[in-house]
Amino acid sequence: MEQIIWTEKLKTGIVQIDDQHQSIIILINKLIEIEFNHILEKIETDAILTELIEYSINHFKEEERLMQEIEYPLLEEHQGEHYIFKYKIAMFCKSASDSNKTITQEMLLFLKNWFINHITNSDMKINTHLQSHPKN
Ligand SMILES: [Fe+2]
Ligand SMILES: [Fe+2]
Repeated sequence: MEQIIWTEKLKTGIVQIDDQHQSIIILINKLIEIEFNHILEKIETDAILTELIEYSINHFKEEERLMQEIEYPLLEEHQGEHYIFKYKIAMFCKSASDSNKTITQEMLLFLKNWFINHITNSDMKINTHLQSHPKN
């Protein structure tokens, strides 16, 4: 599986959010590398996956706080997408651990596609709103 390449297309223009997305992508890429090369023990892979999930949940909270602050009209819809992510990743973790694994191909594909789609389709719109409704 190809790693995610950070490009301008993934840039929302909100520095704090972009920095966090880059950290998330680094962690996803680490997992893709592990899966590809079988280089780490389960316990270390577990630690990276846990870090990724915890970091993502905090990132979602910060994004939601920002959307509240700027009275973003699509907040609820956006929050719903974050919620679905949390639910789905929990399902992937459960089915991986049922087969005594930490990560699976399907999980990595989900992580990769979800973040790319969510960033380009939903996170991007936050800055579009900010630009058209500048703060006084
Ligand atoms: Fe985000
Ligand atoms: Fe988001």
